[in-house]
Amino acid sequence: MDKMAIKGGFTLNGSVATSGAKNSALPILFSTLLAEGEHQFSNVPRLKDIDSTAELLRSLGCEAYWKNSKENSGPNEFVVKVEKLKSLEAHYDLVRKMRASILCLGPMLAKYGEAVVSLPGGCAIGTRPIDLHLDAMKALGAEIELKDGYVIARVPQASKRLKGANVLFEKTTVGGTENLMMAATLAEGVTTIENAAKEPEIVDLARYLNSMGAKVTGYGTSVIRIEGVAKLAASKYEILPDRIEAGTLLIAGAITGGDVTVEKCNPHDLDALVTKLRESGFKIDLGANSMRVHPNTKFVAVDITTAPHPLFPTDLQAQFMALMSVAEGTSVISETVFENRFMHVTELMRLGADITPKTQVAVVRGKPMHQGKFLTGAPVMATDLRASASLVLAGLVAHGETVVNRIYHLDRGYEQLEVKLQKLGAQIQRAN
Ligand code: EPZ
Repeated sequence: MDKMAIKGGFTLNGSVATSGAKNSALPILFSTLLAEGEHQFSNVPRLKDIDSTAELLRSLGCEAYWKNSKENSGPNEFVVKVEKLKSLEAHYDLVRKMRASILCLGPMLAKYGEAVVSLPGGCAIGTRPIDLHLDAMKALGAEIELKDGYVIARVPQASKRLKGANVLFEKTTVGGTENLMMAATLAEGVTTIENAAKEPEIVDLARYLNSMGAKVTGYGTSVIRIEGVAKLAASKYEILPDRIEAGTLLIAGAITGGDVTVEKCNPHDLDALVTKLRESGFKIDLGANSMRVHPNTKFVAVDITTAPHPLFPTDLQAQFMALMSVAEGTSVISETVFENRFMHVTELMRLGADITPKTQVAVVRGKPMHQGKFLTGAPVMATDLRASASLVLAGLVAHGETVVNRIYHLDRGYEQLEVKLQKLGAQIQRAN
């Protein structure tokens, strides 16, 4: 099993480009189920989760493949050809690899009037139920049955068409908003989503739906309106840059006291992170599609609280904790989105970080290097995607060698992270 070996103490400098966004590509690839024809995408990141999505789409009867080979340095182009599906069942063996597979529910239900999707099961960062997804489908008139670990969803009406409705989410949910938005595109009448998620990935999905002929408005705000249409058509689209990868790379520069520019990104998708880095003492320059962090080895501790967009993203909480573990002073990190997203804490403590974790709050007493304090390299275990990124960041500054095990977690959401960090001067190797 692959692991990552990192020699700490090297300052990162230079520029690096961001890949396409995993959390945008996944729902957009599932939205292809809404329309027959050839869907063409560019800037699709080469990730394990994209391969899992392709495998699931193929199991339903689609063709899904990379247009250009891995070796080709051009933009990653991906094609999904959809004809009448040969199956409406998303099997457990595929869904258990990736929770986001639940996003095939809305499109299949809306397009074919039925869908059988395995329940996603547990996750390291929280129970992550899908009750809000199912309630939303019921609000559009679907009958939902849970049987043998599967969601069996049907549209009872002879018309086999969902009916538009007003849905107020009691909790802001990215996946729930995406599933409902997709289902509502082919429903009869108008659907209004209140307390909708406002993440940039929601905006990207809505833009692809509209390029297929849907009528979605209000995306990016907490009230989304969808006027259902009878039919959609396959289209072409370029996936949004990955703001979480961009944030991770910016923190990599910051934590090593380096001068790093992250290119091909949307800086304003990361206003919350940039605000906190500036509060911590970093000088950050924002370009139209780039962010630059200037060297600072005397940065100070700041508190963060994760929350739905545009507030501080939960997917950058672990990486920011790594930074705070070598800041001057004490920071309080509150995780409000997931109930169990501190799995990286004990691993950071193996590197010598001084952290007191409580249920969803962690107190981090920083060890600033300019005061001669430091983390020390050790073997550590990745537990989930963003936790693995935080261990890599901590390894960049820990004295000696850090070995991060189980980096298959990292490969789910980062395209060749070690290659990008090597380009900036990191001493990092993938080891089998
Ligand atoms: C998306 O997950 C992202 N995944 C996550 O990124 C991200 O952390 C999360 O949004 C929050 O930003 C993808 O886009 C593929 P939610 P999602 O529904 O849609 C609860 C990463 O690292 N909830 O917004 O699953 C849920 O348990 C991943 O790339 C219900 O209670 O997140 C959580 O506490 C990790 N019932 C909260 O809402 C529901 O039916 C927010 O979850 C749905 C959600």
